[in-house]
Formats: sequence, C-alpha cells, structure tokens
Amino acid sequence: MYRLTCVQCGQSYPPDEILYTCRSCGHLLFVEYDLDSITVRREDWDRRPISVWRYRELLPVTIPPVSLQEGGTPLYRLERIGKEIGLPNLYAKHEGMNPTGSFKDRGMTVGVSMALQLKKSTVACASTGNTSASLAAYAAKAGIPAVVLLPAGKVALGKVAQALMHGANVISIRGNFDKALEMVQELCISHGLYLLNSINPFRLEGQKTIGFEVIDQIGGVPDRIVLPVGNAGNISAVHKGLSELRTLGLIDRLPMMTGIQAKGSSPVVRAIRDGLPEVIPEKQPETIATAIRIGAPVNAEKALNAIRQTGGTAEWVTDEEILAMQKALAQKEGIGVEPASAASVAGVLKLTESGVIDRSEYVVCVVTGHLLKDPETVIKQCKPPIEIDADLQSLLSALHCS
Ligand code: F0G
Repeated sequence: MYRLTCVQCGQSYPPDEILYTCRSCGHLLFVEYDLDSITVRREDWDRRPISVWRYRELLPVTIPPVSLQEGGTPLYRLERIGKEIGLPNLYAKHEGMNPTGSFKDRGMTVGVSMALQLKKSTVACASTGNTSASLAAYAAKAGIPAVVLLPAGKVALGKVAQALMHGANVISIRGNFDKALEMVQELCISHGLYLLNSINPFRLEGQKTIGFEVIDQIGGVPDRIVLPVGNAGNISAVHKGLSELRTLGLIDRLPMMTGIQAKGSSPVVRAIRDGLPEVIPEKQPETIATAIRIGAPVNAEKALNAIRQTGGTAEWVTDEEILAMQKALAQKEGIGVEPASAASVAGVLKLTESGVIDRSEYVVCVVTGHLLKDPETVIKQCKPPIEIDADLQSLLSALHCS
C-alpha cells in the first residue's frame, strides 16, 4: 500500500489522485509505502533477473507493466581511469545500456504503466532529449499517443531521431528546457494529459532501482554514488530507494550522494556551497552537455535533502573537463557515453584532486546516456577518417607501412 505525500507539509493523498505537487503548499510529492506491511524477501529478489521489475514489491504498479526490458545495466570497474585518479575502487554503472540508451527507461516503464493504471490516454513531457526518446518508445509500446516539447536547436541529434521515429508528436519551442517544462505542466493540468517529467513521483520510483542494482552488483553499500544533475530527479530517486532499503533493514547505511553539474548550469552546486535553503534558478543555463542544460531544477528540494542528509556534496565541471572525460572513458575503458554522463566521472576526478573524495573510498558513478545519443559532439572532437583510393599501396601509405 502507498500514498502520495508532500515532502514539505506531510499532507497525504490517495494513490489514484492525479497530482504532481501538494495541493496545500505546492511542494513536491513522493510515493510513501507502508513499509511495515510490505514483505520483501531477499531470496525472491535474488531469484529474479536483475532489472527494474526484480524490485516490484517496492514499485507502485499493480497491472502487467509496459516493459521493454529495462535495467540490469552493467557495472564496470574503471581500471585505468581509477589508477590514474588514484581511486582503486572506482566503478561506472552504464545506464546507456537501457533500451533507448538512457536511465529514463527505468522511469518510463513505471511512469507509462502508471498512466495506464490511472486510465490516462495521452502522455506528455518536456525534455532535453532523453526523456522524450524514452517516453516516445514506451508510449509506442503501450499503444497511446505522446506529446513532447523540446528546446529548439538544443537537443542532440540521436534523441530527436528517436522521439520522431517512435511516433511522438514532437514540438520544438523557441525557448529553453525550463520554459518547455513550464508550458507542458500547464498543458497537462488544463487538458488532462498525463505528465511524465520527473516531477511525477511515480517516474522516480522506477529510477530508484539504479541504487538497488548497485547494492546487488557489488554485494554491499558503496561509500559514494555520483550522478550528473540536471532536473535533479535521478539523484533524489536513488537516495529515496536506498533510504527505503535501510528502513527495511536490507542495508545499514547510505552512500554519500554526490551531484555533478556543468559549470554553466549549476544552481544545485551553488546552493550546496552557499548553504542556501533552496536553489536560485539560472536564467541562461549553458553547456555542451545539453542533457543537463537546466537552470531551474524542479526536484532541487529533494536533491538538496539527499545530498545534505548523506554528507555528500555537489560540484561543477567545465565543458572541457566533461569532453576530456568522455574521451577518456571511450578510449581507456571502452565505455561510450554522452557528454552529460561523463560529468559524473569528471566530477570524481576534480573532487579527488581537491581532497574531498578520499582515495580509499568505494565510488560508483552513474553514467546516464549512450555515446550515440549525441554523434555531432563526438564527430567534432575526433579527426575524420582518412579517405584513400581502393588499393593496397594507398592503404599501406595511410598506415605509414612500407
Ligand atoms: N544525464 C542525462 C544523459 C540526462 O538526459 C539527464 C536528464 C541527466 C543526466 C540529469 O538527470 O534531470 O534527473 O538530474 N535529462 C532530462 C531529459 C532532463 O529531458 O532528458 P536529472
């Protein structure tokens, strides 16, 4: 059993009420389970394949889910990069290995299932790209229409291609993501579409399974989990899930939740540094990592709590640091991620150099989206292929062989 509860005033609402924020005070809602009445048996989880739905006792869906087999992503040890940074226990959970190439699929399998459970017939979101790609695919699987709003000219090519091909109604707005989110919220409230941005508390339920999988894959609790932060939903989701595991007695401590933003879009970092009670939105967020080009993160309230309650931190990295780490992951570890994803590992490098991360720590970075999401940024960083005549002599001279 569960209800929707306000993070601020504690007001609760029935689970079938379509609500995105508290009706009394306007703050964020979360899905609150009656954990005393839920029986979670480790043996049951261990018997099921590793995936979002392994953890179904702690998810709100009661109908057969709309699933494309999400989750169960690999956890890699970053041997070379870890050695260079001086962190022998540095890991990356590659969320780019989900069905549409990002962690959003964990949220959408739950979110679109909830849309059907709540008898909603059209779904919608604003997106920097990945959310729209994922929503489009899950809406297609569910057989319902999707409307997605994108900031014109600021969404990586692969993501637009996915949203279009999966058949969403794709609208580009002349404005940034924050404006698109404001607009889609108004549309959903006035016209009854089901909103599937991370302000929807059910979506975060799916995303919390990243943390569950990390615990299962390493067989314990890491010291720190590091995530790129945009709208600040994912870091909040992972923290919420692990808090539930602790209440259930399945783990005995929480990792230090650590958020990394791009320097040009870093309101959460400034709020943590300056000890502010809430974030001050940035009007003109800018970064090459378009996935996290967000100035007014809607889940900031949850994220600040997650970071502060676990003794974690937030840090920014420059676009140059992001791109250098994207290349290092690709060339030293064989792991292809999009720029926003590399921010988490770039942040670990910076925080280790500055002594915030201790070299004995066990650190898991979440790398959130696949390299192929943003081929244009990749091509700009690499030398083009050498084109030659189709004969062996030309090949040998191109390879500098005699
Ligand atoms: N990494 C990637 C690849 C993302 O696409 C996003 C968010 C994040 C990190 C940040 O996660 O918002 O939960 O803090 N992308 C959203 C979108 C905003 O529309 O696809 P967050």
